[in-house]
Amino acid sequence: MSTIHFPSGFLWGAATASYQIEGAWQEDGKSESIWDRFSHTPGKISDGATGDIACDHYHRWREDIALMRSLGLQAYRFSIAWSRILPDGYGKVNQAGLDFYSRLTDGLLEAGIEPYVTLYHWDLPQVLQDRGGWPARPAAEAFVEYADAVSRRLGDRAKNWITLNEPWCSSILSYFLGEHAPGHRDLAEGVAAAHHLLLAHGWAMPVIRRNSPGCRAGITLNLSPQTPASPSEADALATRLADAAFNRWFLDPLSGRGYPQEAVEAGRHEMSFVQPGDLAAIAAPADFLGVNYYMRNIVRSEAIPESRNERRTAVPNPELTEMGWEVYPEGLYELLTRLKADYDFPAYYITENGAAYDDQLGAGGQVDDPRRVAYLRDHFVQAARALADGVPLRGYFVWSLMDNFEWTFGFSKRFGLVHTDYATQQRTPKTSARWYSRVIAENAVEA
Ligand code: FCB
Repeated sequence: MSTIHFPSGFLWGAATASYQIEGAWQEDGKSESIWDRFSHTPGKISDGATGDIACDHYHRWREDIALMRSLGLQAYRFSIAWSRILPDGYGKVNQAGLDFYSRLTDGLLEAGIEPYVTLYHWDLPQVLQDRGGWPARPAAEAFVEYADAVSRRLGDRAKNWITLNEPWCSSILSYFLGEHAPGHRDLAEGVAAAHHLLLAHGWAMPVIRRNSPGCRAGITLNLSPQTPASPSEADALATRLADAAFNRWFLDPLSGRGYPQEAVEAGRHEMSFVQPGDLAAIAAPADFLGVNYYMRNIVRSEAIPESRNERRTAVPNPELTEMGWEVYPEGLYELLTRLKADYDFPAYYITENGAAYDDQLGAGGQVDDPRRVAYLRDHFVQAARALADGVPLRGYFVWSLMDNFEWTFGFSKRFGLVHTDYATQQRTPKTSARWYSRVIAENAVEA
């Protein structure tokens, strides 16, 4: 065993998202979001759950801050529900919605916890979806109004801003693959949605900076290293394309390089939604890139018949989490060093990393989750390797603070450091939470 130290000032936190924890879906003037609509549609959520109550964080936020403090968290990444702030999507501001997040921000600061505010973690107001949603350009204009209202109110105290969480999910997964709200299956919609999300980010950046002097602002992407399944030339080519379509589709325009041409051509995408000035706006300089890392992707040129998940078959006996995702900590190192080599973001944060396991509340009221401890330890070690190689990684947010509504999986997947009993709303820190507290206190990991 050796002790691996992190640089002084390295920031340790945990992350959540509004729809996954807040509940109170109709309170204090909040309007319906696309996730309210989606979860209320029979058949969309595997266990039939909704986020109507979720972790009831909207009412229990004080208790949740006390919990974070007891764990020694230095930072907390949370997201804001647009439909609480602008119930019509744009226009009139709902002060009660802003008040909630203002109290939360104050409470965090009083507890010595740095707020990291994500403006959009997928819960678009349904009224904007009714007007075309992200495939339509006005969604980006409305986002700027929303970003303005929030950063005006919180910007004096909240100094770390993330415009969007994982735009791949809120575009391709939501409008093309149909898996997330609003559940459409149209490639052209997906690609246009991705552009308007990036545009919303780019347009909002100067607005946030104006309203929150001295802040740091950026965006969070879900990125996966792409690895060829074999040394064949065909697999190498497929891997290059997968990287262009998945990672570079977002990284390149954010870095002023436009959309990767090879992916535009391979997908035969009709890009007429890109208007003059858009690419310059999207390339607004960011203070950091937020990286959500969960898995790598193993790419083969041809799909394997009879296999629904190509990735699993490509690795012999992979270790999997409860999500069926391969545990591959080295991918975090590969990803971070690749970002450093190919891009020049001034700083990086891991804004999400974590694992779902089938945690059980023990007879004595304890939750022992050794696999999550091992998972996090092994990923922290890879982050330390990347730091040693000069990657400007500034902090790490574990997904998630507590078990919560895991989108289409409802309450069936538990990602928390803290166990949530949904019947009683009892929170129980798992073994991993205690372990993480020690990592934070020592700013070091034993491996
Ligand atoms: C990410 C999401 C987050 C959570 C984790 C498991 O893609 O950003 O809300 O669901 O996956």
